[in-house]
This record gives sequence, structure tokens and C-alpha cells, in this order.
Amino acid sequence: MPCIRIIEVLPPPNDLFRAAAEEFVRAGRAAIAERGRFTVALSGGSTPRSLYSLLAQDQADFSWSQTFLFFGDERHVPPDHPESNYRMVKESLLSKVPIPAANIYRIHAEMPDADAAAADYEQQLRKFFELRPDEFPVFDLILLGLGSDGHTASLFPGSDGLKEQSRLVIANWVDKFKAHRLTFTFPVLNNAKDLMFRVSGERKSKMAILVLEGKNTPPFPAQQIEPKNHLAWVLDKAAAARLSN
Ligand code: 6PG
Repeated sequence: MPCIRIIEVLPPPNDLFRAAAEEFVRAGRAAIAERGRFTVALSGGSTPRSLYSLLAQDQADFSWSQTFLFFGDERHVPPDHPESNYRMVKESLLSKVPIPAANIYRIHAEMPDADAAAADYEQQLRKFFELRPDEFPVFDLILLGLGSDGHTASLFPGSDGLKEQSRLVIANWVDKFKAHRLTFTFPVLNNAKDLMFRVSGERKSKMAILVLEGKNTPPFPAQQIEPKNHLAWVLDKAAAARLSN
């Protein structure tokens, strides 16, 4: 069954984060009601910080004890590094809500060998989801951002990671940063029940129309996202400024 794609445009940025927080809570409550737990992979970068802060502010009584947090990608840096996605999430959310430390699955990006860090995180996923060798995890919700170059998670245009079809997590070499990024692969992203892009600001408007309305060869990484059920694009007015309707 093809995934249901919805595009929601909200005037001021704050509404975007409010809508994203409501979607997080809705998906969480549904997963906990059906399966007794909520598995969610968070995104990094700058855009989601406001969402995480809003969740911390408004959702202290959310079922954090039944919520299991993972990271869709990470920079190859230690957890206290200014570039660390884990650090950003810890400061804006984890340090403020009653989530058990055992429910937080961090990428050990401080490991000098990026491939070893990716393999370590793959093992964490395989153990948590009790996967058979050929199986992929089914996350209840995966949060994603959109890069101005059309990347998502740390799957960048032209990078080798775009071709990966069997591993869950890879160390993807990103030439423009001359560095590896640790990232979920497309099979993991597309195996999710629900997936939500949040896109904010005029600087993303050019790529937003290319990804949502364009036929690009090769397709941008963000265009290769088709989860099992539900794909939500939540944009603010500035990011959606060039969309045709
Ligand atoms: C990261 C992200 C990445 C991010 C986009 C958008 O680690 O950088 O996970 O995929 O979502 O780069 O980033 P901004 O929100 O900072 O524009």
C-alpha cells in the first residue's frame, strides 16, 4: 500500500513546532496503546531544537517511561561537542523530562573508528528490536529534516550511503565536510510506520519545491523517503513560499 503523504503549511514557525509536538504525542499515545511502547528516532541539526524544547515545556506528563529514543544520525564527534546532535537533544529535552536513562539509545560517535561506531549502533538496534539477520526495525516514528542540498538524516547527494540496502547504520563519508557521519540507511527510514519532515525558513524554500514537486535525476535523498504508512511534511510559510498551491 503506497504511503499516505500529507503536506501541512503553517504560518509562523511556532505553529510548525506546535503541530510537530502534537504529532509526536499522537503517534506516541497510539503506539503505547497498541504495543505498550513508543520507539522514536530523533533528527539533529538546528530546526528540531524548538520542537524538543516545546515537548520538554508542555509534555512533562507524557509517557516517557514507555518511550525509547534513538538518533537517526550523528556527527562523528564526542557527546559533549558543540556539533553533537546528542548534546543538542540532551540540552533541549533529555535533561528536562523524566525519561529513564536506559530508554535513551545514543550513537557512540566518540569512537575514533566511524565504521566501528556504526556497527556498534547497529548492534544496539538489533538487540533492542530482537531482529533476525535479514530483518529491519520498525520505528513508530522517525523525525527528519531537509538540508538545503536535499540531504536527509546524513544521506547526502552523491554519497556512497545512498546505495546501502542491507546494513541498518553506516559511517557515510561526506566529502564537503571531509568527515564521516553516522546515519540510518534508507531501508531503516522507509520501514518506519510514521515519518515526519519539519522544514523551516526561507533558506529551505528552493529545495522544498524541488523535493515536493520536482522530478530530479537522480532524485534527491529526501525524495527517496517512502515509509510504510504515513509521511508528513510540516513546513512553515517561509519554507513553503515557492510551492505551487
Ligand atoms: C544533522 C541532521 C540533518 C538535518 C538537516 C537540516 O545531523 O544535521 O540530522 O539531516 O536534519 O541538515 O538541518 P537544519 O535543521 O540545521 O537546517
